[in-house]
Amino acid sequence: MRLRDCRRLVIFTGAGVSAESGIPTFRDAQTGLWAKYSPEQLASPEGFRQDPQTVWDWYAWRRERCLAAQSNPAHRAIAELQRRLPYATLITQNVDGLHQRAGSGAALELHGNIHRLKCFRCGEDAGAWPDDCSAPPLHSCGGLLRPAVIWFGENLVQDVLEAAWRATEEAELFFSIGTSSLVYPAAELPFLARRNGGYLVEVNPQETPLSAHADLCLTGAAGTVMPAILAALVAVA
Ligand code: OAD
Repeated sequence: MRLRDCRRLVIFTGAGVSAESGIPTFRDAQTGLWAKYSPEQLASPEGFRQDPQTVWDWYAWRRERCLAAQSNPAHRAIAELQRRLPYATLITQNVDGLHQRAGSGAALELHGNIHRLKCFRCGEDAGAWPDDCSAPPLHSCGGLLRPAVIWFGENLVQDVLEAAWRATEEAELFFSIGTSSLVYPAAELPFLARRNGGYLVEVNPQETPLSAHADLCLTGAAGTVMPAILAALVAVA
């Protein structure tokens, strides 16, 4: 079994993995966040510069939804795969922290984490988002604190991206789960895995720009497909 026998596995996830936990994805028609809200206004440095309070309120609302949500069978199956396959690397675009709450050990968070803050002026990490904080607090440098997530037009954190790149270049098996494969540089990773000889599996109920390039497309919800993959592994372990 390819999964049992591989020695370098990458599990790459997107918003679709948290959809079954009630967290809206970004681009699903009607229900997606970007169908309702303007990413330029709410998820960009310019938007925060112009109206920090509105951006803060929006992320505070999203964060509350993430805190209220529970991990789902996809998160838990991925955490169990990581326990059983110690050479598995989890790379996520999700900022909701549900992988960690499901018991996943390390996760490379390419787009940051909504439960943490950093300074908008000096970029310094400012720790966990404090409870009952109704407006962006001031940092010791005088700058405003903002959610520690990656906004449009911003670079990813270099060492996180480099670690994801290295693990992907070495991957024998690469799962791309619940992502529309539209946002770069993250969306480049599955192609990088393929170029380096990795076997590429996509898990998504919909077709994406990646589907035609995958060695195997498992068409379905992650909350169904990932537990089935885990069960198959356990059966042959
Ligand atoms: P998208 O909303 O672009 O795509 C979600 C994908 O999940 C779609 O392809 C859906 O078909 C699929 N999907 C929906 N329900 C699913 C389920 N139950 N199981 C499996 N797949 C399901 O979200 P991302 O690809 O994660 O960036 O978006 C990438 C980035 O764009 C995000 O990290 C965010 C956003 O702007 C930043 O914040 C920087």
